[in-house]
Amino acid sequence: MTSSGATRARGWFITIEGPEGAGKTTQAERLVAWLEARGHDVLSTREPGGTWLGERIREVLLARTGAGGRSDPLTDAFLFDAARRQLVTEVLRPALAAGRTVVCARYADSTLAYQGYGAGVPIHVLRALQAAATDGLRPDLTLLLDLPVEAGLARKAPDDITRFEAEFDLAFHRRVRDGFLAMAETEPERFAVIDATRSADEVASAMVRAVDERLARSEPRTAATRIER
Ligand code: TYD
Repeated sequence: MTSSGATRARGWFITIEGPEGAGKTTQAERLVAWLEARGHDVLSTREPGGTWLGERIREVLLARTGAGGRSDPLTDAFLFDAARRQLVTEVLRPALAAGRTVVCARYADSTLAYQGYGAGVPIHVLRALQAAATDGLRPDLTLLLDLPVEAGLARKAPDDITRFEAEFDLAFHRRVRDGFLAMAETEPERFAVIDATRSADEVASAMVRAVDERLARSEPRTAATRIER
């Protein structure tokens, strides 16, 4: 039985979120390796991106044009949600329906944190966009890699500086971090907050523990992999 008592008809959907420089990419790779070693068929992807169209939208969103300054944050939200919609329909839903485990670096919470808490777009507007973009697809578990924004920004390599680090100030990034933490507090059953100031090994172990604790209790993913307990 799952915690909700319903039979799971799809694979696990795990997202990794967090402010800049939290180590999401490295930790996603480690989590995928761990899941695969446990026999999961894993699809690993990222936002914005993960599809041909999404990667094109990513280029536009992250480009540092040097001209024109900031774009309108609601415009950004539409673009992130457009990329998300494509990812959900083309990649995520089919993979989950096939019983695959999906690990996604960033997902809908990032738009709430960055364009909402960070840039001030009303949360109810973003939730309406999100509902359309995700068609209600919600992660089973969200691993929030949390660390102070100064520490995260200091970790970024100079060639990894996107528009979001270049054009937004420390106060913006603090609001983003606080936004993630606020969301984690309101949905403790979905979020696991991981202290990302620790070594990569310690963070990886904490993530694995969270996956074990939260997901191992839930119903196996498909009839083919069902284990009676
Ligand atoms: P990402 O590739 O995760 O960058 P990083 O590895 O630097 O964290 O994400 C790209 C940037 O896009 C990042 O600065 C966060 C931002 N972003 C949003 O503002 N809204 C969103 O919905 C998403 C998915 C990302």
